[in-house]
Amino acid sequence: MCTDLRPFFVEGQNKEASCFPVSQQLTGTLALAVFTAALGSLQMGYSLGVINAPQKVKRTIRHYARSLGVYNEELARREGGNTTEHEEPTDASVVMYWSLSVAFFSVGGMVSSFLVSFVSDFRGRIKGMLYINVLAITAGLLMGLSKMGTPYLMVIAGRAIMGLYCGLSSGLVPLYIGEISPVKYRGAMGALHQLAIVIGILISQVIGLDFLLGNDDMWHVLLGLSGAPAILQSLLLFVCPESPRYLYIKLGKVEEACKSLKRLKGDYDTSKDIAEMQAEKEEAMKEAQMSILRLLRSSVYRQQLFVALMMHLSQQFSGINAIFYYSTSIFQSAGVGQPVYATIGVGVINIIFTLVSVIMVDRAGRRTLTLVGLGGMCCCAVDAYSWMSYLSMAAIFLFVSFFEIGPGPIPWFIVAEIFSQGPRPAAIALAGCCNWTCNFIIAMFFPYLEGLCGNYVFIVFAVLLFGFTVFIYLRVPETKGKTFEEIAAVFHRKRGAPPSKPQEEAEMVQLKGSTEA
Ligand code: GLC
Repeated sequence: MCTDLRPFFVEGQNKEASCFPVSQQLTGTLALAVFTAALGSLQMGYSLGVINAPQKVKRTIRHYARSLGVYNEELARREGGNTTEHEEPTDASVVMYWSLSVAFFSVGGMVSSFLVSFVSDFRGRIKGMLYINVLAITAGLLMGLSKMGTPYLMVIAGRAIMGLYCGLSSGLVPLYIGEISPVKYRGAMGALHQLAIVIGILISQVIGLDFLLGNDDMWHVLLGLSGAPAILQSLLLFVCPESPRYLYIKLGKVEEACKSLKRLKGDYDTSKDIAEMQAEKEEAMKEAQMSILRLLRSSVYRQQLFVALMMHLSQQFSGINAIFYYSTSIFQSAGVGQPVYATIGVGVINIIFTLVSVIMVDRAGRRTLTLVGLGGMCCCAVDAYSWMSYLSMAAIFLFVSFFEIGPGPIPWFIVAEIFSQGPRPAAIALAGCCNWTCNFIIAMFFPYLEGLCGNYVFIVFAVLLFGFTVFIYLRVPETKGKTFEEIAAVFHRKRGAPPSKPQEEAEMVQLKGSTEA
């Protein structure tokens, strides 16, 4: 059976030569295709950052509560009708509405990440990205028009639907980019997904400034704009070529695959690329496709799965989204005079260091950059108490910089590197779900944790980061420049025993049998 989430390796062959077309040319069409796909990641970043836009968190809650329609009427009534324009709401239900709309976004991502392999194979990558834009546009309309209906319901529903979009897009975009990128630029192009996310975060922070859209009157427009990139992407997708890999391996359309290769890489002899895709197709047919449940039960892939999930756990439980969702309030309680500009500073640093990662990931390696990143974040978080002062800005900037050089971009593509064709779709779905679940936990509970631990809240993340750093050091092999076979061999060695072929083969036979049945 042929599985299609396989942009990276062919078992037993040199990955560089075997998985990617030999033409290394960068054409205008390739650039347009990558740009178009990355608009999906930009939209995800905008949705991640937009909730943190206005100036002070309590005021944010007031803006928000108003935009939800729960401030003036319900809250003022409960507070005895004495609440004036400039007072802050204290009612716990407002905090709850706020947390819910931050969190429902991640719930949407959790649910839809399971559907990535289905959507990408249903009508191809291009149509997959096109169809899911219906979700983004619906979500944008719901939030943008929320003042005309029941605002709090429409905003929460809009955030949840946008989450559904982002869960799918965070799988489809890296998949499409990985499949069309020439090998020479694969690492850098893989990290473009994260780069577009951080650009989206910055855009939302800038247009969320008080004098732009981050105010009582324009709040709904700020949220509604989340859907805007989907409109541009939908138009551009019509001129983007479908992934040659999908056309050849999944549909068996040789002619169309050649045409697509030529559009992406210029006029060249495609026979080597086609031969390579044929090898991958044959390889894929030898391997059983695995459901999520089977992957969870399989002892063969336990190590890889553990590593994949831990990479995503460490990305989210590093506390990065506590910064992105709540940085303005963190800066404010740290006594920073202009918290909103500090937040925008975080956004800029974020972009600069993601660019550093784009440049370095294929040279320094995934393991090294992740270790340096997590270790650095741990040191910054230990120093959290000094985040009370102006100096705190430096610590937060450093924290974000360390995140972006490794723990931010790498988990998104390392999962595809450590799994072979059979279990890869299930592994991507599980890892995506793990990522969004942790995102949900942070979004929902960070304000309460902050209430509980006060300025020491980042000590909790420091402890977690220390644990993750030790784990990566002990258990995660370097995947840069290794073939799938070499990576698999490392995992076997790490299991403490030579690869138990008979056991694995028996398991594979069993799996194949039940898949065929
Ligand atoms: C990664 C994370 C996302 C986070 C972002 C910050 O993409 O998955 O949750 O908000 O980085 O740059």
